[in-house]
Amino acid sequence: MRNLDEETITQAVLARHADMPNGRLKQIMTSLVQHLHAFAREVQLTEEEWAAGIQFLTEVGHTCSGTRQEFILLSDTLGLSTLVTAQNHKKPRGCTESTVFGPFYVDGAPEYELGADVGNGMAGEPCYVSGRVRSITGEAVPGARLEVWQADAEGFYDVQQAGLEEHRGRGALRADADGGFHFKSIVAECYPIPHDGPVGRMLDALGRHPWRPAHLHFMISAPGYQTLITHVFREGGEYLDSDAVFGVRSSLIGDWVRHDAGTAPDGTVSATPFYTLDFDFILNPTPAAPAATPSNRR
Ligand code: BEZ
Ligand code: FE
Repeated sequence: MRNLDEETITQAVLARHADMPNGRLKQIMTSLVQHLHAFAREVQLTEEEWAAGIQFLTEVGHTCSGTRQEFILLSDTLGLSTLVTAQNHKKPRGCTESTVFGPFYVDGAPEYELGADVGNGMAGEPCYVSGRVRSITGEAVPGARLEVWQADAEGFYDVQQAGLEEHRGRGALRADADGGFHFKSIVAECYPIPHDGPVGRMLDALGRHPWRPAHLHFMISAPGYQTLITHVFREGGEYLDSDAVFGVRSSLIGDWVRHDAGTAPDGTVSATPFYTLDFDFILNPTPAAPAATPSNRR
């Protein structure tokens, strides 16, 4: 293939992929090449703009580290994460909706007993969180595993804090036999996504702010159910309609109630005001495996 030009280059690349044995990879790469080329044609991309794009992606890569995932931030801020979440988590009405995972989940968070203080010394106003995990048909999901994570009052996750040895504001708990759970933490506050890197500069150039509305992250799993990755947002908070990563769903806005100093739900006396949040999660069962028939039985 020689003498390729504006008109013929796309087909030439696709022809080079004709014998790709992996059908799904072939489908994805064909579409990617077609859309990339269509994009360059549509905007009549200049060489300077092409170079600026390469430079930007290079900086995104260089900004990634063990605790910073700038590519996820890029995907989140361009709405790709919300699109992929939405198309992969269609559920029956009544199930708790999923939303973006974000870059601050970590494996191996400490395991806590129900009622424990998951904040573990994290700065912020106390918040007592409770709820139940149920199935779409109403029955309790006993022993469901809940992983929670959140930022502190200044908007930083524990993993963003250099030198912090232990986990704060994150933990794993098991629901009781009735699917009930409760724990103490701190009230969630609005915070900006990390914006001191290329994605922050991109938002700036686009005239966008980097803020997320106050939220608490949950990942809830139980045998026989699809794992739910979601947040609970704070009613009445700022940025619910301009989340930098497009993650807000009305059904995920909880009622965080402020209480004056006094007796807290765990029976202790709080010398400072505190919050409560009660929120139930409704899980979607995993699809039943197809019944064995004479043709698929082995
Ligand atoms: C988060 O909520 O933790 C988050 C989500 C997307 C980008 C940055 C942070
Ligand atoms: Fe978050």
